[in-house]
Amino acid sequence: MQTFLVKAARAAAAHAHCPYSQYPVGAALLTADGQVYTGCNVENVSYGLSICAERTALFKAVSAGCRDFAALAVAGGDKQPAAPCGACRQVLAEFCSPGTPVVVARLKGGKAITTTLGALLPMGFASLK
Ligand code: THU
Repeated sequence: MQTFLVKAARAAAAHAHCPYSQYPVGAALLTADGQVYTGCNVENVSYGLSICAERTALFKAVSAGCRDFAALAVAGGDKQPAAPCGACRQVLAEFCSPGTPVVVARLKGGKAITTTLGALLPMGFASLK
C-alpha cells in the first residue's frame, strides 16, 4: 500500500505548476473504499494564492463526495522528503483522524518515512465547545 501510494504521489508531482519555487510536490490520498485521489502544487504569480499538493488532493476527493480516508502519501524534495506544511496538516485534520498514516518520500529514491497525522499535528485546532 505504501509503495503504491508513494508511486501515485510521485506521478502526480509530474503535473506540478511550480515556476516560482521550482519545487514540485505530489500527493495521493487513499479513500476508505480504495480510491486514490492525487494532487500537485499549483502556484500563482500572486504567491499567496498557491495551493499545496495535499490540499489539491483532499479538495478533489471531498468535492467528489469522499469523506473517509485511509492514508496519505506525499512526494517532494531532492535531499529530504517534503512533509505537509502546517496549513495542510490543519486542513487534513478536518477529514482525517489522528491515526491516519502519512507517508513522506523524496521525489525520487531514498527511504519513505511513515508517520501519522496526529504526530504531525498535535493539539490542532478543534472548535468543539
Ligand atoms: N508544497 C506542497 O505542495 N506541499 C508541501 O508539503 C510543502 C510545500 C509546495 C508549496 C509551494 O508550491 C512549493 O511546495 C514550495 O514551497
